[in-house]
Amino acid sequence: MILSTASILCRFKPSNQLIFLLIIGYTEAVNSEFSNQEETMSTNGLNQQKVEAFTERMVDSLNQGSLALMTSIGHRTGLFDTMAELPPATSGQIAEATGLHERYVREWLGAMVVGRIVDYDLDTVTYSLPPEHAAALTRAAAPNNIAAFMQYIGLLGSVEDRIVESFRHGGGVPYSAYPRFQEVMAEDSGQSVLPALLDYILPLVPGLVDALQGGIEVLDLGCGRGRALIIMAQAFPNSHFTGYDFSEDGVAAARAEAQQHGLTNIHFEVRDAAALDQMHRYDLITTFDAVHDQAKPATVLSNIYRALRPDGVYLMQDIAGSSHVHNNLDHPMGLFLYTVSCMHCMTVSLAYNGEGLGAMWGQEKALEMLAEAGFTQVEVKQLPHDIQNNYYICTKH
Ligand SMILES: C[S@@+](CC[C@H](N)C(=O)[O-])C[C@H]1O[C@@H](n2cnc3c(N)ncnc32)[C@H](O)[C@@H]1O
Repeated sequence: MILSTASILCRFKPSNQLIFLLIIGYTEAVNSEFSNQEETMSTNGLNQQKVEAFTERMVDSLNQGSLALMTSIGHRTGLFDTMAELPPATSGQIAEATGLHERYVREWLGAMVVGRIVDYDLDTVTYSLPPEHAAALTRAAAPNNIAAFMQYIGLLGSVEDRIVESFRHGGGVPYSAYPRFQEVMAEDSGQSVLPALLDYILPLVPGLVDALQGGIEVLDLGCGRGRALIIMAQAFPNSHFTGYDFSEDGVAAARAEAQQHGLTNIHFEVRDAAALDQMHRYDLITTFDAVHDQAKPATVLSNIYRALRPDGVYLMQDIAGSSHVHNNLDHPMGLFLYTVSCMHCMTVSLAYNGEGLGAMWGQEKALEMLAEAGFTQVEVKQLPHDIQNNYYICTKH
């Protein structure tokens, strides 16, 4: 016990506060060992083994959080992509191949080596990215590129001051405070939704692919950069597709991409989903990850119900989870999702005096709200590749 605490102290240079915590743990451990070898309770009534194990876990979190930030940088700078193609190379050669400054590259490589992401050869002073790691860190590895998702950690960190302000004074942080949000989100859904859309997601709705081939009216609300809709418009030229988002950036990017593909069966508009007042207009309405962060989710769901034709279908992809925290203890991404929720999804809703449902609103709450909006027939489906989402298939009667 003493050894491991001491070895933590030797391995890195912690803050004064952390040194204090570790020294307290160390002193307690020494006292405890000398007074009674079997005794795990220290004089202050704490189980010292638990204190030590927890402290080690927190130190590890500090390292893993750092790894997430540096992995995001590796993705954004193209370092992983380049290293995957290079033989073992010096920091100078890697800097040259990426067009980056060597001093930064070398420091990043230091983090990557001690983080056991990159291998280091002391004799040749060269660095290499093992192919097994490249398989989870490069653009070529998409949809398995985990490095793309690491961008959320820096994105969320960039608004920490404003989030802390909101803890103190209420309110929220608006979308405008996240200038990279649309870009990162498009990369996220570009990996999580798009590759599965035609072959796995749309077939979840019985008869939908045939209907799309025949020609139907489709609306995607909160479409972001519109990539899901663009893929559908390309695959189903007889159908017509509309995308609404209140992000001007998102809609501008969506329009540009649709134009680039020469699509004539699609259009995008800057529009607030809460103000949608159409009736019996669409055969299919979709939302991809776009309900839980609404300011007025109940209004949006009612608007969707009204805008569907009789027998129309609403396909809602949203975060899988329970509305009750104790059911989420074993959620494979629970910690990440509550964090994204607190520092983005919930706060953007509260910024507009919204409900602040948050990403972990959960299946129970989702079904309750869908029923309130009029959807009495809802089936919840999941896809084996997708641990993050539920697919709610809601039919209007
Ligand atoms: C988490 S993002 C998902 C974007 C896109 N569906 C995707 O999967 O890439 C949620 C989107 O909903 C949009 N949004 C939020 N509230 C909205 C509202 N009231 N009206 C229209 N769009 C809204 C945001 O601008 C954002 O693009």
